[in-house]
This record gives sequence, C-alpha cells and structure tokens, in this order.
Amino acid sequence: MNEPELSELSELLDLEDVERVAAGRLDEMALGYYAGGSGEERTLRNNRAAWAELDVWYRTLVDVSSCSTTTSVLGLDLPAPVLVAPTALHRLAHPDGELATARACSGAGIPIVVSSLASTLLEDICAVTDAPVLMQLYIGQRPEVSEALVARAEAAGCAGIQLTVDTPVWGERHREHRTGFHLPEGVDVVNLRRHAPEPAGAADGAADGAADGASDGASGGIGEILGWAVSPSVTWDDLARLCGSTSLPVLTKGVCRPDDARRAIEAGAAGVVVSNHGGRQLDGAPATAVSLGPVASAVRSADPGAIILVDGGIRAGVDVLRALALGAHAVQIGRPVLWGLAAGGQDGVRRVLDLLIADVRRCMTLAGCPTVGDVTAELLAPD
Ligand SMILES: Cc1cc2nc3c(=O)[nH]c(=O)nc-3n(C[C@H](O)[C@H](O)[C@H](O)COP(=O)(O)O)c2cc1C
Repeated sequence: MNEPELSELSELLDLEDVERVAAGRLDEMALGYYAGGSGEERTLRNNRAAWAELDVWYRTLVDVSSCSTTTSVLGLDLPAPVLVAPTALHRLAHPDGELATARACSGAGIPIVVSSLASTLLEDICAVTDAPVLMQLYIGQRPEVSEALVARAEAAGCAGIQLTVDTPVWGERHREHRTGFHLPEGVDVVNLRRHAPEPAGAADGAADGAADGASDGASGGIGEILGWAVSPSVTWDDLARLCGSTSLPVLTKGVCRPDDARRAIEAGAAGVVVSNHGGRQLDGAPATAVSLGPVASAVRSADPGAIILVDGGIRAGVDVLRALALGAHAVQIGRPVLWGLAAGGQDGVRRVLDLLIADVRRCMTLAGCPTVGDVTAELLAPD
C-alpha cells in the first residue's frame, strides 16, 4: 500500500474527494464491506438524501467574527461536535488500522468509539491516543464476554460505552456475499477472539466469513465468533443490568423510535445514539435525519440532561448543523474515517477530521451562529 504524499492529501477538498481516492486504493472485498448496506440499500441511500432535504434558514447580520465550534459531551471538552463512530476491522483499510485512527483522533482531539469488532486490542488503542475513547458493545449469547469487555473498558480508562441495540441478528449484506468476503491473513476481531471458547482458525490466518455481517459458521473462524457475538434475546432488562453494573455512562446506539429512546433513559442510559448502523441492519428503517427530531424531543422530556448523538450519512459541516438544529449534541462519522484511513493512514484520517471541523466552522459562520448553542431548531423552520 503506497501512502500518498501529504501534498496529495491536502488536495482532497471534501469528504467525497477522500472517498474517491479510497475507492481506488481498496480491494473489491474491503470496499464492498465498508461501503455496503443491507438489502436493497434503501436506508443507506436515504441516510444521505434526507440530510440534503433540510434547508438551513441562516441568520444575517450577526457578529460571527469569532466563531467557536467547541462543545462538551458527557463531560468531555470537544473541539467540535464530532465523534468517530465505531466501525469494525480498520486493518482492512491500512496495516496500522485502529492505531492510525486513534492517533489521528489524538491530534484532532476528537473522541473515538472503538468497535467490539476492532482488529486491534482496545488496550493498545487506548495506549496510543490522548483523545477520549468510548467502547462499543454488543450483548451476545455469552454474557460473560460482554462483562469482560466492560471491565476492560473501565480498566483502559474509557469515557463511556455505546451499547448497540439494532443488531439482534446481523443484517443481510449482499455485497459481502458477492465479493466472497473473508478476513485476510493477519486481520482478526482480536478483542472478541480473546474471549472465544477455544483458540482456533484465525490464529493461523484462516478466519472465515465477514465481520459485522455475514457469517459462515466455520469452526473456530470468525463465523463462529459472530454467531455468539450478538443475541436475539437481549431485552430492556439487559440494558438496565448493564447500566447498573458499570460506573461508565452507557448510550444505546441504534435507536430510531421516541418510545424506545424514552425507555432507554428510564432504564438508566445516559443518552442515545440515533443510528441505523449506517443502513446495514433493517433496510427500510428511517433515515436518521428523519428519526432524530422525534427521538430528541422524547429524550429531552424524559431527561433534559441526557445525551443525544446521531450518525448516518453525515458528510459535511452543513449536515452537522442540520443535526444540531434537530436536537443532537454531536454527530458521529463512520465510513469517512475508513476512507481517510485507506487514502493515507493516520494522515488520511486527520485530513477527514480537519476538513469536517473546518467545514462546521465555515457553515456556522455563514449561518450566523457564533457558538454551537446558537444552532437551534429555528434554523430549519423560519417561523
Ligand atoms: C464497515 C462498517 C462497520 C461497522 N461496524 C460497526 C460495529 O462494529 N458496531 C457498531 O455499533 N456499528 C458499526 N457500524 C455502524 C457505524 O457505527 C455507524 O452507525 C455508521 O457507519 C454511520 O453511518 P456513516 O457510515 O454513513 O457515517 C459499522 C459501519 C460500517 C460502515
């Protein structure tokens, strides 16, 4: 993998440029795995399209000579209302994988949410970054594994947990089947592997099946791990138990309904992530730009102090403004980080973060919003 010169990265002017370069550098299997959604990819497409539907009714004649994108989420001071969403297997994009992503986050001061299907150990990721780290968790068919991961997250100094609740089973992602997705030698879901019943398969590079998706059930391979990594019998009681068992704040990730959001807060969650897994789970789920507003009102009425994050199709500063105006405290970006990683490793991810943060500032300035607190619902409804 040849890294482009920094001058090349600086020629990438927006996140779509980065995606284009990444698409030319990734093999068909990794590209299909990262880019794909479930079913007919309707939700995947709508995630992008629904943000673009929202006009921003900017304010004029406001003094925006100094514009600050800083904010605070879960007690963490952030340079901008942006987090890196949990995505599996960064080492498919670059040999340094999650370490490169975490170092880029460190430089930018942007929190990283580590996927439980990461291809690097959580402890190693935490060791290379000063940025806040959150852990993404599934409650699977072996509760002791989830408990062990929570204990590891606490010990590693994580700032919170995102419990993904949109995955009772894995979504059907045709692109992974069409490309015959399998893990290349040396890439594995190492955090779960550590808790696998018996070490086999991938230790010699023979992991089978996809991660965060299709599985082939091969013994000792990733298919077997993915078989127990999620569970269709997880309920609200499990969420309440998790919230009661850790000192870390827990956000439920993958909520689209206001009643579910309210119930999550009542069960002890510190907040929610409005998400449809980047269109990779139920195809036909609403775009997050559609579900965010109703969920945000429900959360605010249940607990005005609860946190509301959103992800899915956010690709520009104006999307971040739209999300804040709909009630989010911050956004998460998934695929753009993978594109940055493929385009240029740590520097590529840093380019993605810098481009987005600069664009948030520019859009806030153009919209007459000198602070994040000025990005309110009136921006989307002039009356
Ligand atoms: C390749 C890939 C892997 C993902 N892996 C996970 C995961 O392991 N856990 C999880 O909760 N979400 C996972 N997600 C979903 C992301 O956290 C996030 O919800 C989504 O990517 C946001 O949409 P965006 O990619 O359009 O920004 C994954 C998404 C992608 C694209």
